[in-house]
Amino acid sequence: MKAPLPQPPMALLAELTHRCPLKCPYCSNPLDLERASAEMNTDDWKRLLDQAAAIGVLQVHFSGGEPLARRDLVDLVRHAAQLELYSNIITSGVMLTDKVMAALVEAGVDHVQLSFQDSETASAEIIGGYAGAQEKKMAAAARITAAGLPLTTNFVIHRLNADRVADMIALGERLASSRIEIAHTQYYGWGLLNRSALLPTREQLDHATKVVEAARIRLKGAVTIDYVVPDYYAARPKACMGGWGRRFINISPSGKALPCHAAETLPGVTFPSVRETSLADIWNHSEAFKMFRGTDWMPDLCRTCDRREIDWGGCRCQALALTGDAAATDPACELSPDHAVMARAVEDAGPQANWKARA
Ligand code: SF4
Ligand code: FES
Repeated sequence: MKAPLPQPPMALLAELTHRCPLKCPYCSNPLDLERASAEMNTDDWKRLLDQAAAIGVLQVHFSGGEPLARRDLVDLVRHAAQLELYSNIITSGVMLTDKVMAALVEAGVDHVQLSFQDSETASAEIIGGYAGAQEKKMAAAARITAAGLPLTTNFVIHRLNADRVADMIALGERLASSRIEIAHTQYYGWGLLNRSALLPTREQLDHATKVVEAARIRLKGAVTIDYVVPDYYAARPKACMGGWGRRFINISPSGKALPCHAAETLPGVTFPSVRETSLADIWNHSEAFKMFRGTDWMPDLCRTCDRREIDWGGCRCQALALTGDAAATDPACELSPDHAVMARAVEDAGPQANWKARA
């Protein structure tokens, strides 16, 4: 008997470009950035959106890099709206002018997620490597809410700014956000490269958690606060991407279909291209998406654990980066024989003069 097909992905993350005017030291793009000349063209992206709608995808997140660096973003948003896909733009906001905002609204955008590097201007602009960014972001937030769109403000926190979580939440409130994301840095790619400089102390983490918990009570019913904690202090891992090949599909600028943004770090795995293979085929039948889907691939420790369908064994890319084996139990799990690598990384972290940022 044939195995049943998986549920379709709920959301497609369209990484339109790796180009970006900012240079954050925790950038989620791969270390080996794809060039502008390799990016898919407008027709490729539209064809992909058609296929996504046809297989039952509900949401498309236009991301990057900076999606506004693509001249055809308005066109792509319009196409998504015509297909009745819910569209979200994930942006740094520094390119969101009045004219672009008006065009996006006319095209039918549903939501904007705006990133801030800090609540404090000087620190934000050092972290993002872009002088004048904070003022542009404030103006972008005002444009988004004036247009009547729901705004999510996103703050990535780490050792250098974690003490200002209360100010970040206050800034998110002042900007009339409907949702505020306080997300500790995730340590893949650039974040892993700069981990020693970015990992917060246990005291910083505990303080940030207390501030978030109090704000959640105070803002209940008015503003939603999402909070992502660093795996390095966790007892159990997160369900990375909601489980490999279960809910999300990432498309790189050149059209590679990936189960997560760091998947290309897995050695010896060929990720199919949406330029050559249909999205349905990739999702339902490609080896890359089947590789860690479900529970059959799991080591005994996970396969016999009652959390196996809660965290899906954690993160494959983190398991690879920290143990050398993508099929190992995520070392963020206290039960993993490799859990001590997390504590060692915390011990090694400390203030650093420099970090490496994308050029
Ligand atoms: Fe999750 Fe595996 Fe740890 Fe169980 S043993 S909590 S399934 S990572
Ligand atoms: Fe790849 Fe978690 S980032 S599985």
